[in-house]
Amino acid sequence: MTASPSSLLIRRARILLPDGTFLLGDVQTRDHTILQVAPEIADPAPDVREIDATGLTLLPGMIDPQVHFREPGLEHKEDLFTASCACARGGITSFLEMPNTRPLTTNQAALDDKLRRAAAKSLVNYGFFIGATGDNLTELLQARPVCGIKIFMGSMHGPLLIDREPVLEEIFAHGNRLIAVHAEDQDRILQRRQQFAGITDPAIHSQIQDNQAALQATQLALKLSKKYQRRLHILHMSTAEEADLLRQDKPAWVTAEVTPQHLLLNTSAYETIGTLAQMNPPLRSPHDNEVLWQALLDGVIDFIATDHAPHTLEEKAQGYPNTPSGMPGVETSMALMLTQAMQGRCTVPQVAHWMSTAVAEAYGIPNKGRIAPGYDADLVLVDLNTYRPVRREELQTKCGWSPFEGWDLTGWAVVTIVGGQVVYEYGKLHTDVRGRALMFKE
Ligand code: DOR
Repeated sequence: MTASPSSLLIRRARILLPDGTFLLGDVQTRDHTILQVAPEIADPAPDVREIDATGLTLLPGMIDPQVHFREPGLEHKEDLFTASCACARGGITSFLEMPNTRPLTTNQAALDDKLRRAAAKSLVNYGFFIGATGDNLTELLQARPVCGIKIFMGSMHGPLLIDREPVLEEIFAHGNRLIAVHAEDQDRILQRRQQFAGITDPAIHSQIQDNQAALQATQLALKLSKKYQRRLHILHMSTAEEADLLRQDKPAWVTAEVTPQHLLLNTSAYETIGTLAQMNPPLRSPHDNEVLWQALLDGVIDFIATDHAPHTLEEKAQGYPNTPSGMPGVETSMALMLTQAMQGRCTVPQVAHWMSTAVAEAYGIPNKGRIAPGYDADLVLVDLNTYRPVRREELQTKCGWSPFEGWDLTGWAVVTIVGGQVVYEYGKLHTDVRGRALMFKE
């Protein structure tokens, strides 16, 4: 059976509609688009491929708005092919990728190179951030297509680190593109690194890059965003203090995201998985988990990203503090969140909102995030009845591990569809499928 006919007819699915209700029915696609959504669609023409979705739930394809896919330059950790295979398996049909590749994505030429590589290799749709360096303002304003400007306020070295307020202010003051910040205060991190020098227990990482370091940087980004009414997005918000700050004071032009690991893991993970739990911003306390969950449920936090940041097991075995920060996530995020929904912590429509609809809205990605005629046929059929554990041997990410190994999850993708093409079904990837470059309304 061909992986990419021009038309699909998904039969008897439990379809999530844009109003958050479910319809038991059929969805037909033609080329890249959803053609029809109805309780029953008449027998199709012979060239239409039918998919029996009895017992399965159809959601809009997930959009992961923060990933590090390592290509070019760091392909020993991951590349656009392996990462996009992991996306397809995880139900993620589009991703927004970060600029800390080699060379850094800080100008149009580097962006064009990534777009060419993704067109050749990516099974799912792709978009890229441009990285701010402090002396590339023209590129930040003119490079296209980009989903936004990425600023590392801390936890970075080299040209991508922008830890001085006047330099930050210059960027906030010019243009109106979305600015996405990694908010950790570099001065505080450096000072605490000195204070805790010599400690090799990775749990110290959460104390070095503590809640206060995150709060200070978020406060500064918020101050500048308010001064210039500049569209600001706070990446991977990790602390109760930041959530409380936004609860009291969140201008209409500010959004925030949280990762599944900051909701579901905390500092106790260092005891079980050691440096595999090391990431930036670090894992926090169970209290932070609770406050972040509540902020997400209340709409203070707008959506979910994985910050998929793979490193090899050899790199992770070097011993703290020589170990790199970051963990993979695209393969497990949807199932982790749908498992939370099935266990009553939230609802399935909320998960689809946080992982698809709200992301498309926040980044101005046209025609994505909803199952409705005229929208792109990026879809995922999930099984909400069966539990299966996260198994290392099944992972597609090149790094070959997950912090969630052994977790028993439901809501795994059964069929993933990108632009009307089946890219994953019943455990099998169709590696000939290619996604498209995302567009962003500015
Ligand atoms: O833990 C992290 N790892 N956080 C980041 O912001 C960067 C990332 C990486 O690229 O490894």
